Amino acid sequence: MLQARPMLEADLPLIMAIEERAYPHPWSQGIFEDCLKISAYECRIYEDQDGLCAYSVLSTGAGEAHLLNICVRPERQGLGLGRAVLEQVIERAKEKGADTLFLEVRVSNDSARRLYESAGFNEIGQRFDYYPADQGREDALVFALPLL
Ligand SMILES: CC(C)(COP(=O)(O)OP(=O)(O)OC[C@H]1O[C@@H](n2cnc3c(N)ncnc32)[C@H](O)[C@@H]1OP(=O)(O)O)[C@@H](O)C(=O)NCCC(=O)NCCS
Repeated sequence: MLQARPMLEADLPLIMAIEERAYPHPWSQGIFEDCLKISAYECRIYEDQDGLCAYSVLSTGAGEAHLLNICVRPERQGLGLGRAVLEQVIERAKEKGADTLFLEVRVSNDSARRLYESAGFNEIGQRFDYYPADQGREDALVFALPLL
């Protein structure tokens, strides 16, 4: 059973250990600390019987929601957790009154792209050179999910 709760500063060492293994270009701890201070950002962690297995960062305001980070512990990926977390994020965005949920994803991130497409997101644009990459920069695809 997946239980969600607000992320705390005390969670950050474990979150950073996951973030640094899950992403080729991870967020710094300072970015998470800033997110925790911004009231429009909702940072959540997801736990099951084996402990912290995922986290998300959602920003909401002006009728829009942006999913800024969604991450599943690497050894727990491919088991349905990402889809379960995304469903909870979508519900939270609706509860916050957003009419659209936006996100950006690396062009090369096939598993995330498939997850978003199968959850009903539409690709609505592309941001050139949006992410750092091992060689130069990488484009982002912008996805949107209508919530109304
Ligand atoms: C993207 C991520 C959140 C998906 O979570 P997950 O728990 O691995 O995904 P799930 O097991 O719930 O799978 C959901 C769907 O994602 C897609 N998917 C997951 N793993 C995949 C893989 N290795 N290859 C292709 N598609 C994959 C599939 O469409 C899958 O649906 P299906 O099982 O019905 O085929 C997870 O891989 C992750 O944390 N990656 C690193 C961080 C990241 O890239 N976050 C997204 C930033 S935009």
